[in-house]
Amino acid sequence: MSLTLPDFPWDSLDSHRDRASEHPGGLIDLSVGSPIDPTPAVATEALANAAQAPSYPLTAGTPELRAAMAAWWERRRNTGPLSAREVMPSIGSKEMVGLLPTLLGIRSTDVVVIPEAAYPTYAIGAHVAGAQVVASDDPTEWPEGTKLIWLNSPGNPTGQVLDVAYLKEALSVARKLGAVIVSDECYAELGWEGVRVPSLLDHEVTQGNRSGAIALYSTSKQSNAAGYRAALVAGDEALIQDLLLARKHLGLIVPAPIQAALTAVLADDEHVAIQKERYRARRELVRDALLEAGFRIEHSEAGLYLWASRDEDCWDTVKWCAERGVLVTPGSFYGEAGSTFVRVALTVSDQQARAVRDRFSA
Ligand SMILES: Cc1ncc(COP(=O)(O)O)c(C=O)c1O
Repeated sequence: MSLTLPDFPWDSLDSHRDRASEHPGGLIDLSVGSPIDPTPAVATEALANAAQAPSYPLTAGTPELRAAMAAWWERRRNTGPLSAREVMPSIGSKEMVGLLPTLLGIRSTDVVVIPEAAYPTYAIGAHVAGAQVVASDDPTEWPEGTKLIWLNSPGNPTGQVLDVAYLKEALSVARKLGAVIVSDECYAELGWEGVRVPSLLDHEVTQGNRSGAIALYSTSKQSNAAGYRAALVAGDEALIQDLLLARKHLGLIVPAPIQAALTAVLADDEHVAIQKERYRARRELVRDALLEAGFRIEHSEAGLYLWASRDEDCWDTVKWCAERGVLVTPGSFYGEAGSTFVRVALTVSDQQARAVRDRFSA
């Protein structure tokens, strides 16, 4: 017996990776959003200081972590005050995305709505729970029988930001359908050119009523801590408490040293601002290289990616880039909506970001 899961999409990029690696200057890998800059001292020191961990950690997080999470949502995401029962940590946010339909008891007769251009794990999680998937960004199209709605803002792969009006409508439709609505906001700190990235839990959206609504955040990108697997969840108290019960039974617990690191990281905004400036500079270099090479860029107003097109099949664009020693992700990995786009990640060194321009103009 096994779950019939699709192949891992990135494995199909291997031949293009080989081609791009033949470039005399070496491979420039813009295909994954995996941070490359050092994890800041605020995280490493807190982790080291908490290395003694003989006892089982609390699934809900230490009291210090719960307080730090609630304070973070209020300070950075404008939620208004949250109680310690409205927040919890997760082991990175990918496991929450993948397991949430199962943990919520979604069944085969239920529909899970995902964005039209979507991070693949939303569909995988629905598939694991046996549910049907509908890809739709239009709340008026969300069907009866919908039990879970995924929003992703800023979006991966498009970098699109959902505004307060959209979030309000989505929340209202979700409540009429009796569905849980979850917003994955792991790129929320990376808004460009003054764009504001509201949370689904923003007070302007919820007016303090968080029923049926959950938001996810992750320190992977903002703190170069993808290796720590340190993320957080907030929202509807009853849902958070149900999820905690399931996670306690299953042993889905954030390790104690990581809880300490997460507590420290959430209280420090300075390292986040420093990292954001690094990405801002790289984004400008890579954006200019793409525009000068004739690409057009859509959305991309926030997040770690540029969503770019040469108005041809995305695999032709992947090949064009690979011939110049640059690996990008075909938009088709994210659904039909991406078939003429590529996703270009900004997680490379300044030197590599600069080299993209030379290679594309050569
Ligand atoms: C939209 C989205 N959600 C969730 C994740 C998972 O992040 P992590 O598990 O590192 O918190 C990613 C990672 O790239 C992502 O792009």
